[in-house]
Amino acid sequence: MELKFQENFLWGAATSGPQTEGRFKKQHNNVFDYDFDNYQERFWGAIGPDTASNFFNDFREDIKLMKAAGLKSIRTSIQWSRLIDDLEKNTLNEKAVDFYNAIINEFIAQGIRPMINLNHFDLPVELLHRYGGWESRHVVDLYAGFAAKCFAEFSDRVIDWFTFNEPMVVVECGYLLGFHYPDIVDGKKAVQVAYHLQLASALAIEQYRKINQNPEGRIGIILNLTPAYPATEKIEDLKAAEMADLWQNRLFLDASVTGEFPEELVKILSKENVLWSAESADIKCIKENKIDLLGVNYYHPSRLQEPEYSSDSLAQDWRPDKYYAPYNKRGVRMNADKGWEIHPQTIYEIAKRIQEDYGNIPWFISENGMGVENEERFKNEEGQIQDDYRITFTIEHLYWLHKAIQEGSNCFGYHVWTPIDCWSWRNSYKNRYGLISLNVHTQVKTLKKSAYWYKNLTDSSLLQVPNSILEKYDEVLKN
Ligand code: BG6
Repeated sequence: MELKFQENFLWGAATSGPQTEGRFKKQHNNVFDYDFDNYQERFWGAIGPDTASNFFNDFREDIKLMKAAGLKSIRTSIQWSRLIDDLEKNTLNEKAVDFYNAIINEFIAQGIRPMINLNHFDLPVELLHRYGGWESRHVVDLYAGFAAKCFAEFSDRVIDWFTFNEPMVVVECGYLLGFHYPDIVDGKKAVQVAYHLQLASALAIEQYRKINQNPEGRIGIILNLTPAYPATEKIEDLKAAEMADLWQNRLFLDASVTGEFPEELVKILSKENVLWSAESADIKCIKENKIDLLGVNYYHPSRLQEPEYSSDSLAQDWRPDKYYAPYNKRGVRMNADKGWEIHPQTIYEIAKRIQEDYGNIPWFISENGMGVENEERFKNEEGQIQDDYRITFTIEHLYWLHKAIQEGSNCFGYHVWTPIDCWSWRNSYKNRYGLISLNVHTQVKTLKKSAYWYKNLTDSSLLQVPNSILEKYDEVLKN
């Protein structure tokens, strides 16, 4: 079967500054640079962000490859730790301005629309050490100043802006789970950080409305949405899923789209004495600075059941997951390398929810993809990676997205994660997601089979869905 996407559908891919550029000529260290300099052993293969995929030096060749892989748009990010010289006075580094101008211009010259994000977890580490990072109100203000500089320099050409990528990852990985520096485990701090990230997003949007130079310009946020499925219909499991949804999805989604935090969540946080501290003008600022468009990173749903311990037993040590326990559902499809469930039809549910509960705001899939370890094993004799699994994965997700669009979802695009295999935080190069492979030793970049497939798709906007996939989903739709 052949499915047609709308003519102007925005096909592309997503990446970020810190994951591609390398640390060449950078003024400041971000939290990951610092983490790597001090604790190399935390990083897969002890490989840090020093070179990444060398985009700082190779960007012209990389953009050519991206064009060959069919990209019509790209999302990447501007690094605060590169663009700004004096973090307090917010002075620009002219070489960094030249670099970002050069890449924006090159993307446009090659027919690839640049969509620019302002924070992909990469806080300058001095602001963490000096002020406590996102726990600090002052850092929120400095971020809004940095955002203003970006709009002033680049919004004449950049149409689509994003304030943050996955703010919940900053909260959970940095302040609850010990996965990212500063590795703090403290529920109350996590709540304050979440609040400050939302406020920072609103303050950046406020700046954008004053400074933007592009009549078509729009600004949004990128959220990782993980729809929460309860283990059973038991009230305890339903409640667990509801709390996970409030915390993981609705906190940033409601505040960004409707301008208000979910009332149920605020009640729970107040009752637990962990509600954020706020200033009186904040509510108005968040209410008045809603997003124009939403980016959704979708990789997997979350499966929840009631926690084993009673919610009071941990009253001294508040954590959101005192209300819910994630579990691995038996018999589901897994990406064993990454340990994530593969559940394409959840994309349809996300689309429906945005349509029904969030005013059908314009949105797109800003990341979706499949990370595979040791991908070299799929190389053919000509040295090309035969990543049929990635092609199937993408077809299945697009099948469900197309169905939602047919039913009126206001989805305008789809971005794979990621164009060229990129460095990824503490996982470094463990999981390869690219349409284009990277040899980290030689920096040679080669199109995978999926890149040729993607180019065919993005040139025609026609998705060929094999019968095997159709038959499988006919069954799902019947039930
Ligand atoms: C996304 C992030 O959630 O996951 C990316 O936005 C990240 O920055 C990607 O690289 C994949 O993560 P990992 O750890 O599997 O390489």
